Amino acid sequence: MISTATKLANRSFSNCMMNAAGVWCMDEAELTAIDDSAAGTFVTKSGTLVSRPGNPEPRYYETALGSINSMGLPNHGIDYYLDVVAAFQKKNPGKTYFLSCTGFSIEQDQTLLRKIKDSEFNGIVELNLSCPNVPGKPQIGYDFETVDQILAAVFAEYDGPLGVKLPPYFDLVHFDQMAVILNKYPLAYINSINSIGNGLYIDDEKEEVVIKPKNGFGGIGGEYVKPTALANVHAFYQRLKPEIQIIGTGGITSGRDVFEHILCGASMVQVGTELAKEGPQVFERLTKELQDIMAAKGYTTLADFRGKLRHQD
Ligand code: DOR
Repeated sequence: MISTATKLANRSFSNCMMNAAGVWCMDEAELTAIDDSAAGTFVTKSGTLVSRPGNPEPRYYETALGSINSMGLPNHGIDYYLDVVAAFQKKNPGKTYFLSCTGFSIEQDQTLLRKIKDSEFNGIVELNLSCPNVPGKPQIGYDFETVDQILAAVFAEYDGPLGVKLPPYFDLVHFDQMAVILNKYPLAYINSINSIGNGLYIDDEKEEVVIKPKNGFGGIGGEYVKPTALANVHAFYQRLKPEIQIIGTGGITSGRDVFEHILCGASMVQVGTELAKEGPQVFERLTKELQDIMAAKGYTTLADFRGKLRHQD
């Protein structure tokens, strides 16, 4: 029997695949569709203290090789997601859900975590440190000192399982420096990667950009980003203490892509662009494709190959 089950933060999941925050997770109806699919669980849209309409449309565009987005964190606010997840927890007491959130200051992050602590939430928190799309706000994950300060503040406030969503890094020295910071804290996991920030996709017929916010600049996802995602997963797998697990996100369109993320060290994977394209039935296809690869290689569990990517001498 081939199993794609996994464990993260000592919680068990029937399948290692789930949605990436931002895709199919805006409201109860979308989350229900993921909950009813072959995915192992869901993560909510990143909730902020106060609900937000996000950036003007068009703000998402699908390309042949992926997507560009500048959503600008539209969401219903943290209280909405806490209520919705509480209802899912009641319905499925054995299932662990992820709640994504993001603040615009250290104080806001602390307030978010306090709210979560005071609620019925018993799942895993994903603190988003990497949104590239709020005009005037930098991606926090590129400011190493601030990441350190945020984590110190967050863990002074919260002792439940918590992971961080990181932007992609592109320099081995940055992996070294970020890993030193992350290893100081009792993180359950890191999630690599968010979209590659501020790409520009253009329509050359129209000689125009394809999304409205920020003059067309937006986060790039999909096939374009897989090598960067795998590099981030593997670089952190080699540098983080073993208690910090890894969720791999970026460029998953097939079971082979899931296999590669796990081979690089991921314990779980998230699907964004391809989920937006295919809808929640994508998880059934990806699961079947991963099982076929595992069967052909003689693997029965993810532990048989997780992190076992070989290097050349
Ligand atoms: O690509 C992204 N888009 N990453 C995020 O973290 C947030 C999202 C948005 O709402 O703009």
